Amino acid sequence: MHGTIFTLLKRYVQTQYDHSTWLRLLEASGLTSGDFDHKSVYPDEQMYALVGNAAEMTGLSANELHENFGEYLVPDLMYMYQKLLQPEWTTLDMIEHTETTMHAQVRREHTENAPPVLNVTRISPHELVIDYVSKRRMGALAVGIVRGLAKYYDEADQIEVTPTTSEDGEEVRIRVRRKR
Ligand code: HEM
Repeated sequence: MHGTIFTLLKRYVQTQYDHSTWLRLLEASGLTSGDFDHKSVYPDEQMYALVGNAAEMTGLSANELHENFGEYLVPDLMYMYQKLLQPEWTTLDMIEHTETTMHAQVRREHTENAPPVLNVTRISPHELVIDYVSKRRMGALAVGIVRGLAKYYDEADQIEVTPTTSEDGEEVRIRVRRKR
């Protein structure tokens, strides 16, 4: 997985918990270095170990930890890829364009990058369905990212995010609706 995601996980743990929690987490996950380069790709197993141990240490479930981390990621992802964002987009538009714009760019940056496939069906101006597909089984992260986007666009009160399958499968369906 992309070094940026590791760096943001490190910052998430350091800011939501503390630096010593991060150090204990590295040790528990068998990692000697906690420095991740933005241009490098690191083994997915390291991410699973970090997230799994972080859940254990914080007492959250793996799904809850993924969701919280996904929500935390959004402002930084938006900042890093701001050139690709259109000013008129709000939460639902952003989700609709991720596959062909942001994730397409991530795939071009490095042949080893493999963001999930997000098949998005816009049901109406107020509703869409995301069909997430990834061997990484990180659908809960996607749920968190959607919540983070709603916050980012100041729509947290209007946006309802409902996973309609289990969140930890290779295929996850997420319904996103904006209340009028
Ligand atoms: C500004 C918008 C976005 C950017 C810049 C972005 C970028 C990225 C990057 C760099 C990765 C790591 C890929 C890799 O290491 O191979 C990633 C993974 C991921 N992205 Fe996005 N993303 C964006 C929006 C979204 C949205 C809207 C969703 C879901 C609705 C989403 C769901 C995920 C998930 C779940 C992963 C974890 C990897 C996996 O499950 O296979 N992303 N994204």
